[in-house]
Amino acid sequence: MRTPFRFVTRSCKAVHRLQQSSFLSPISAVSSHQRIAVLRNTSTYFCKEDRSYYITTPIFYVNASPHLGHLYSAVIADCLHRYKLLQGFNSKFATGTDEHGLKIQQAAEAAGKDPLTFCTDVSERFKHLFNSCNISYTDYIRTTEQAHCQAVKHFWSVLCNKGLIYKGSYEGWYSTQDESFLTASQVGDAWDSSGKEIKVSLESGHKVEWMKEENYMFRLSAFRSQLLDWLRGNPRAIQPERFYQAVIQWLQEDLPDLSVSRQRSRLQWGIPVPGDAEQTIYVWLDALVNYLTVAGYPDKCSQWWNVAHHIVGKDILKFHAIYWPAFLLGAGLPLPQTIYVHSHWTVGGKKMSKSLGNVVDPLVRSQMFTTDGMRYFLLRQGVPDSDCDYTDNKVIKLLNAELADSLGGLLNRCTAPALNPAQVYPSFCPQSFPSQHGGRAVVEDYNMLDAVKNLPAVVEQHYESMHVYKALEAISACVRQTNGFVQRHAPWKLDRRDSKDQHWLDTIIHVSLECLRIYGTLLQPIVPEISNKLLSRLGVQPGERSWVDVNFLPRYQGMDCPFEGRALGSDSGVLFSRLETYMGLDTFISQSTELGLPT
Ligand code: MSP
Repeated sequence: MRTPFRFVTRSCKAVHRLQQSSFLSPISAVSSHQRIAVLRNTSTYFCKEDRSYYITTPIFYVNASPHLGHLYSAVIADCLHRYKLLQGFNSKFATGTDEHGLKIQQAAEAAGKDPLTFCTDVSERFKHLFNSCNISYTDYIRTTEQAHCQAVKHFWSVLCNKGLIYKGSYEGWYSTQDESFLTASQVGDAWDSSGKEIKVSLESGHKVEWMKEENYMFRLSAFRSQLLDWLRGNPRAIQPERFYQAVIQWLQEDLPDLSVSRQRSRLQWGIPVPGDAEQTIYVWLDALVNYLTVAGYPDKCSQWWNVAHHIVGKDILKFHAIYWPAFLLGAGLPLPQTIYVHSHWTVGGKKMSKSLGNVVDPLVRSQMFTTDGMRYFLLRQGVPDSDCDYTDNKVIKLLNAELADSLGGLLNRCTAPALNPAQVYPSFCPQSFPSQHGGRAVVEDYNMLDAVKNLPAVVEQHYESMHVYKALEAISACVRQTNGFVQRHAPWKLDRRDSKDQHWLDTIIHVSLECLRIYGTLLQPIVPEISNKLLSRLGVQPGERSWVDVNFLPRYQGMDCPFEGRALGSDSGVLFSRLETYMGLDTFISQSTELGLPT
């Protein structure tokens, strides 16, 4: 992927400062409008019908209500979907619920409900959470839907017809909680709450049981070398790198054939094996096919399937990076382009779980800290490579520092009537801030321009590798630099009656608003409401907010700035209100319950 600025050809090498800086006029002879037209026509970049992109979240188990970890998977996918839309892609974004299997069958029984009613209730809760948190999915799939069941049956028949499924018998460990078959080396000893010795999965810690069943097996062992070839030929297929290495390692270990059905007598809640009413299709095979169902399978699905990217938590990597590609290879279908893996949110150092009672309710938190606040926190603090511990205090501190004080403070300063009485995007004065020294700008100001000019490329690179926290780190550092710029030059001390002071004041505000425009544009995938408020306040129209519009400070490069002289948008209040630490969580939760808010 390229940014507009990478079309730059360096043209002013004679200027000493600019020789060191990357802030050069890209195509300085053309106007900004012409430049956008150039970019739009560039095949590597924009708005072409064939530039499709397909991003998925895992589909969520409906055995319990959604928690913060689930929202995290969805927010990452939403961010990448919105980012691709900004880049002019035709993006499809699928999420939904995983409704079959023993775990759900048992949960429905425990709730005393028929399975479908139970699934519908919990699926609606996920949907409600996602709608409340601006998760802009284009498709919401439930595995109990007819179209999906058809797709799974078709997929099964294809594997069967290719001789990849055979009737056998499975004897070994099974974890209902993970819906996973385990080898002896993946199981260890533990004690349950009553002190009884039990066997658990070494990876998840969930209880496992010995089972012996007649069922259908998939020839997984036949795919080891094809999977290794795929990965070695596509070193970016699984990101971050440490998870890619883990999969390579697994593939060098034991890879037995995989049981892909359960006896109907044990598992009724699932799709029957075509032609054998005594067997139910293994829930992971059923669930993984959801990605194809959304793409249109078994009808023509290549538009989406050829450009599929999965977001998954590290606990379900094996299913996505080994089983799924093997099924796809078996069915003669292309493999996903990227599997982006994220780590977990813990509370008190432990993975959230209902039994530990440490589950963080994302709906309550997004009401407390706002939807955008929660989105920002999760993406700013969530590091794909390692687990992160959640506390409310961390959220409050981060949001107050970066959204309320730093970003909100900057917008407030530059748009406040005291500094900007005309309420316009003021003019940039090249004499005050010349491309060579001699004006009023100092070296830190030039450094800031460089940093902001490079920011879209930096952010793009981090979004592409799902290191969203690094993108936010870079944006946050630039916001601090811009605040430093305003503070350093204290425009409130300038004398408006002096025309030179007035020009410099206008220039300071112009530059700061340009910085804010870039930050607002780049932040849209993360905090859509805040970005909208910010850009609207600057008077930036909806059609001026895409990735082609991140041409920073064109006036400095001798080009026209479409915003110069334009009236600001109306003031709709502070960008992000400071959160008070005294607002106790317990009080909030009890208030929400009283108000009948779902918790
Ligand atoms: N149903 C399967 C996925 C099938 S996809 C074909 C499943 N569901 S899940 O509800 O258990 O998990 C869904 C996603 O939530 C996974 O990516 C999982 O990693 C993520 N999370 C669950 N708990 C989490 C945390 N505590 N922290 C971050 N994400 C976690 O697995």
